[in-house]
Amino acid sequence: MSPVPDPEVESGPRNTPALLEVDGLQVDFATEHGWVNIIDSVSFSLERGSTLGLVGESGSGKSVTSLAIMGLIPTPPGRIRSGSIRLEGQELVGRSERSLQDVRGRDIAMIFQEPATSLNPAFQVGDQVAEMVRRHLGLSRKQAWARAVEALGAVGIPDPKRRAHAYPHEFSGGMRQRVMIAMAISCEPKLLIADEPTTALDVTIQAQVLALLHGLREELDMALLLITHDLGVVAQVCDKALVMYAGQIVERADVDELYRHPYHPYSEGLLVSMPQVMPRSKRRLASIPGSPPMPWAFPSGCRFHPRCPYADERCQAGAVATVALSPTRASRCLRVAELDLSGGRPS
Ligand SMILES: Nc1ncnc2c1ncn2[C@@H]1O[C@H](COP(=O)(O)OP(=O)(O)OP(=O)(O)O)[C@@H](O)[C@H]1O
Ligand SMILES: [Mg+2]
Repeated sequence: MSPVPDPEVESGPRNTPALLEVDGLQVDFATEHGWVNIIDSVSFSLERGSTLGLVGESGSGKSVTSLAIMGLIPTPPGRIRSGSIRLEGQELVGRSERSLQDVRGRDIAMIFQEPATSLNPAFQVGDQVAEMVRRHLGLSRKQAWARAVEALGAVGIPDPKRRAHAYPHEFSGGMRQRVMIAMAISCEPKLLIADEPTTALDVTIQAQVLALLHGLREELDMALLLITHDLGVVAQVCDKALVMYAGQIVERADVDELYRHPYHPYSEGLLVSMPQVMPRSKRRLASIPGSPPMPWAFPSGCRFHPRCPYADERCQAGAVATVALSPTRASRCLRVAELDLSGGRPS
C-alpha cells in the first residue's frame, strides 16, 4: 500500500453528510502550565447505524473528545479552539447551551464514564428516565412513566414496573449501568456514546452489558461510539476503530483489519499487550514500555517516538501527517510503508 493524503482530513464536506463528522478538532485546557493542547486535529466520521470504537491508554483524550461532541467541555478551563463537529451536516460547535440541550439526549445520548455521578440518589430511577423522555419528547407524565418502564424492561431489568420505583442505591453496579443505558436510549437517539461502559463491572456482567448494547444498537438502528482502553471490547462490539494516542488519532481501520495487520506501532503495542490476541510465537513486547506523555510535555515529531521500538531520527523531527492507506485505513506513522507490524486474531 502506498501512502496518499488522508481523504478524511483533506476533503471537504460530502454530498450526503455522515451522521457525525468531526473535522480538525482542537481542544485546549488552561492549566498551571498555561494553555495546553489536549485534542489535536482529531477528524473522523460515523455513518448512521455504525459502530466505532475509540481506543487508547488512560489520558489519551477519549473522554474529552466525547465531551466535545456533547458540547460539555467545561469552559473554563477548557475551550474548543477550532474545528467542526457536525450532526447530519448541522454544526454543533458554537451553538448556544439551550440549543445543545435539545440535541443532548434526543439526538446524541451518552453513558458517562462515572455512572455514580450520573444518577441522582434522591429520585426513583423511573422518575429519572421519565424526566428525560418528558423533556425531549414532550410526553405527559403518565406516558413518560410508561415509556420509562418500557426502557427499563428493554435493558433487561427484571420486573421493571415495580423496579422503576426503586432508588439507584437499591441496584447492583451492573443493574445501575443498565438504568444508565435505559436513560440514554429512552429517546431513541441517533448516536449513543458509551464511555467505558463496562470498566467498573466484573467480567461476566461486562459481557452481558456489551451484548445488551450490541442488541439495542441493532434494534434501534443507532450509531454507537464506544470508548474503551480495551481492544477486546472493541473486537466484540465494533466494526471500525480509531486508535488514539496523546490527543491524536494515530490509526483508523476496520476492526478485523486492525487485528490482522496494524499500521501503527502503537496499535501493535496495544494488540501485543493483549495475551488472548497474540500467539505466543509472535509476542515481542509484554506491554508498551514507559507511559504516555503529559499534555504539556508532548514530544516533538511523532508523539509516540520515545516509546516506539521502530523509531529513528526522522520520527523525532517535524510533525507527522496522517496518510490514507486505503479508503478505510489511515495511519500517522512516518515509517508505515517500511514496517511489517504484527497482528493477531481476537479470541
Ligand atoms: N478539566 C480538565 N482540566 C485540565 N485537564 C484536563 C481536564 N479534563 C481532562 N484533562 C486532561 O485531558 C487529557 C485527556 O483526558 P481524558 O479524560 O480525555 O482521557 P481518557 O483517554 O478519557 O482517559 P481514561 O482512559 O483514563 O478515561 C488528560 O491529560 C487529562 O488530564
Ligand atoms: Mg476517559
